[in-house]
Amino acid sequence: MCGIVAYVGSSNAIPILLDGLNRLEYRGYDSAGIAVARAGGIDVRKAVGRIANLAAEIQKSPVSGTVGISHTRWATHGAVTRENAHPHTDKSGRLHLVHNGVIENYQTLREQLQERGHEFHSQTDTEVLAHLVGEAFDKGGARDSAALVEAVRAALRQVIGTYGISVVHADVPGMLVGARRGSPLVLGIGKHEHFLASDVSAIVSHTREVVYLNDYEIVALQADGFEISTLSGSGADFHVSTVEFDAGSVEKGKYPHYMLKEIHEQPNTVRDAMRGRLSAEEATAILGGLNMTNADLRAVDRIVLAGCGTAFHAALAGEYILESLAHIPVECEFASEFRYRNIPFQRDTLVFVISQSGETADTLAALRESRRKGHRTLGICNNVASTIARESDGGVYMHAGPEIGVAATKSFTSQLTIFVLLGLLLGRIRHLSHSDGLNIISELEKLPDLVARTIELETQVAAIAKKYAKANNFLFMGRQAHYPIALEGALKLKEISYISSSGYPSAELKHGVIALITEDTPSLFIAPQDAVFEKNISNIEEVKARRGPVIAIGTEGDTALAKICDDVILIPEAPHYLTPILATIPLQLLAYHIANELGCDVDKPRNLAKSVTVE
Ligand code: AGP
Ligand code: GLU
Repeated sequence: MCGIVAYVGSSNAIPILLDGLNRLEYRGYDSAGIAVARAGGIDVRKAVGRIANLAAEIQKSPVSGTVGISHTRWATHGAVTRENAHPHTDKSGRLHLVHNGVIENYQTLREQLQERGHEFHSQTDTEVLAHLVGEAFDKGGARDSAALVEAVRAALRQVIGTYGISVVHADVPGMLVGARRGSPLVLGIGKHEHFLASDVSAIVSHTREVVYLNDYEIVALQADGFEISTLSGSGADFHVSTVEFDAGSVEKGKYPHYMLKEIHEQPNTVRDAMRGRLSAEEATAILGGLNMTNADLRAVDRIVLAGCGTAFHAALAGEYILESLAHIPVECEFASEFRYRNIPFQRDTLVFVISQSGETADTLAALRESRRKGHRTLGICNNVASTIARESDGGVYMHAGPEIGVAATKSFTSQLTIFVLLGLLLGRIRHLSHSDGLNIISELEKLPDLVARTIELETQVAAIAKKYAKANNFLFMGRQAHYPIALEGALKLKEISYISSSGYPSAELKHGVIALITEDTPSLFIAPQDAVFEKNISNIEEVKARRGPVIAIGTEGDTALAKICDDVILIPEAPHYLTPILATIPLQLLAYHIANELGCDVDKPRNLAKSVTVE
């Protein structure tokens, strides 16, 4: 689930591996380790906690070499200990392996290996992989790269589960083997050097020429070449791609945190989500990646949206946006529930899975189940090289650039922007007139400036954050499309500040939530000038009557909110389908500044991982 970085070439592998691991730090991890080949053997260093601890271990007891593998672990099997940190080794102690993912049948494999005399030194599922590969290699007799690849192949055939692995063996110097199923792995091609990584951002400062491996592929790499084959033993077709961003876009630049940088990028990222996709001539959106004709799109009579976490909140807001602009019934599903429900679909149901990373295991499973049932299934992804992007029947890329902060921010507003484009496209095939279409386009064109103006509220939001940072419980409320925004505001706050927070439709207050209102429980209402403004005001009055502090997000020019609320944040006026995007920004900033005020590690919140590749 976490990170792999491996190197073979002529430079010292240590700084390359440590730098790569640092670049993957954002994904969340609990321990780290490294194995580096030297003449006649392999040196291993491991540490619990931060990569800095691993670097300190290496400094205490230096290692060097030009071939090495490294790992950041996000424990799934076995406690966070030095013994459980990767790399793991085999019976001979000469093979070392790092692994992302989960081996589901590890218990059975472990018992079988123990019967054959293998001893285990960790509680991980991973260690069985090292023993299986080592056993197959030793049985084969030959000590060359082809034999090591064959041993990896033989071992993986026995395994049920997901893996991205990298293997190094003291008897086959100068080479590494990698393989994947379910966990991403990318090969980086350099000049007389090659890299392997679970995420391209770990190696992009060295090379932008990469091959994204597919499931069931094995790669053998040396300084001067690589060979890709399949688990079944045949050669594999591969395509060398050029990474579309450079090392600069995965750096923090002038910002103290990635999350803040990404919040500030939003004027550009919403623009990039629309770039080249608006046609004034036809007064519609052009989304060629859907791979569907207008006739196909016209036949759609139901849409299902599936995602997890923030992407699920985008789906909920997307439901309002699509239903109001395109008048098509929309349903949202937690991707994790999707394949375990037997949803009765109509014939012309169109399914969208939404995922920033494109690697979320639950969302990928929903995509596969939907396609298995024969439904056209499209992806809304940010990572163009991801498994979801590759396996879907088409889709819409966010083009938001790498999102490093664990708390999703810019990807969410890009997803909402894409739903407006989809609503415009589907609406224009149905009831929206040419002038309705032009009107929506002209509003969309103003969006980047409105987003920039909303970000300018940061100083005010930071002051509000200071005032409420000590709260133990926070409520977020909104109506219609702002209810999902309330959910997202609550998720952002709990993820990075660990304050208990929850989101509700405003009117749910009186059905139970009101029991939580005290002088110490702040409620944040999203109450712009819209058709339900007065209803929100009544709900705010209910909170004030019980002395609950209220922060309100309203529309510029509003004077009513200030009369009853403790704090008011006024965002620019926009049509109903764009206000959710603007209303999101103060909530991101509020969570960020509260977390900062509390001294929390904003970019690396506890227990969280950026891309959740386990079920
Ligand atoms: C968002 O702040 C979270 N870290 C998390 O809920 C995330 O949105 C979810 O895991 C889905 O990720 P994806 O978009 O990469 O599929
Ligand atoms: N399942 C393995 C473990 O618990 C790998 C976890 C990971 O992907 O980091 O060690």
